[in-house]
Amino acid sequence: MTFDIKKLIKEHAGENFSLYEAHVNPRFARALRIIGFDRCYETAKGAYLWDIEGRRYLDMLSGYGAFNIGRNHPVVRKALCDFMSMDGVSLVQMEAPLLCGLLAGELKNRIGYGLDNVYFCSTGAEGNEAAIKFARCATGKSRIIYASSGFHGLTTGALALNGSQVFKEKFGELLPADKVPFGDLNALEDEISSGDIAAFFVEPIQGKGVNIPPAGYMKAAGELCHKHGVLFVVDEVQTGIGRTGKFLALHHETGAEPDMVIVSKSLSGGYVPIAAVLMKKAIYDKVYSSLDRSVVHSSTFGKSNFAMTAGLATLSVLDDENLMDHATRMGNLLGERLQTLAERYEFIGQVRWRGLMLAIEFASPRSLKLKTAWTTVNKLNEDLFCQAVTIPLLEDHAVLTQVAGNQMTTIKLIPPLCITEDDVDWFITAFDKVMQDLHRFPGPAWESLMRIARNAMPGGRSKSRAAAE
Ligand SMILES: Cc1ncc(COP(=O)(O)O)c(C=O)c1O
Repeated sequence: MTFDIKKLIKEHAGENFSLYEAHVNPRFARALRIIGFDRCYETAKGAYLWDIEGRRYLDMLSGYGAFNIGRNHPVVRKALCDFMSMDGVSLVQMEAPLLCGLLAGELKNRIGYGLDNVYFCSTGAEGNEAAIKFARCATGKSRIIYASSGFHGLTTGALALNGSQVFKEKFGELLPADKVPFGDLNALEDEISSGDIAAFFVEPIQGKGVNIPPAGYMKAAGELCHKHGVLFVVDEVQTGIGRTGKFLALHHETGAEPDMVIVSKSLSGGYVPIAAVLMKKAIYDKVYSSLDRSVVHSSTFGKSNFAMTAGLATLSVLDDENLMDHATRMGNLLGERLQTLAERYEFIGQVRWRGLMLAIEFASPRSLKLKTAWTTVNKLNEDLFCQAVTIPLLEDHAVLTQVAGNQMTTIKLIPPLCITEDDVDWFITAFDKVMQDLHRFPGPAWESLMRIARNAMPGGRSKSRAAAE
């Protein structure tokens, strides 16, 4: 029998959740059902998804930031098809892959900072794991410092640098690592002056919560690190590849000097897992210090030519379509229109953004009636108010969004960088209506929210939390 993927998908259309429940992760499937996110998506293009009923959705989540250039970009698809039609070679391992050298060169040119060597792997967490090992090897020290609310992946090394205790619970002892408040230079200096620290890992804008540090923080943090012999490692897994309107979010700040930069997610247009760690030559020389150690850290799929092909094509699309400038324009349009809504709606505390990485943070309203409603839902579950926004956005307006992190009253918008002014209108019209409904208390929006809370609560708050991550 010849394998036919189209036939297979057609034969099983709509069985997504029953199969996932039976064989993969029934609790996540249930959490999605509770909040009405149990849709069966079938096709995707640019900033849109279509479900099996043909309904079109606006994707403001872009696979956690993996689709900066839009889903199923034809240039990347063609590059991959061309590579396959050549019977292109990949993973010989005992070779120096051509495309790997080409992509490394492209990344070095775009990133700068005198970072000389590039290590390729497959995921953001794997990139952070490599950077942890490299930092420990290069400095001979073992402790790592990270920022509160930081997120660097969920493998055990990266998990040690996670700002949220929720992710760490029940996974045992992790690497020695300590947390400092994000954006606080005094706290950083206090911590790193102890002299036993290999590196400070930090995101230039934090993915969990979309926290933007005070201007000058990244430059000064790097200087403090260097003063104390600590490596300054910048995690651009989510903020990189044009997300904030520049290639790296760090490029918004002049004078910052990272020792390592990690990129991933959107680097391959969302087609193939990919990550890259760019490092100073002095670090490379310590890790790969002899011929014996020339493969002392590597991974089987790291240099796959499928990933390299997709990476090279993605970078070309980013330039050809001028997507970084477009992200700045669309981000400002969306952000400013949201700020106008914030003047009308008491629940909106703050809107913040850089390029197309935006946060809408909700806060306790002024009027007594709404304040009571706010306090009640937040007592039940800190994520619940956000669910009251993300659920109708999807259900009534076909807009896919996410809560910015567990136990947060913030929703995050990270759409593909190719969204149009019409898409901005689509989102603003939808969000305006959802806000209108939530500002009517008591009212139907609050009744459905309490229904969801009742469904989620008996098994514990974790169900609603799972949906938020
Ligand atoms: C800043 C940052 N670092 C690392 C990671 C982990 O990446 P992955 O999920 O590919 O392991 C993420 C994922 O969201 C991230 O946002």
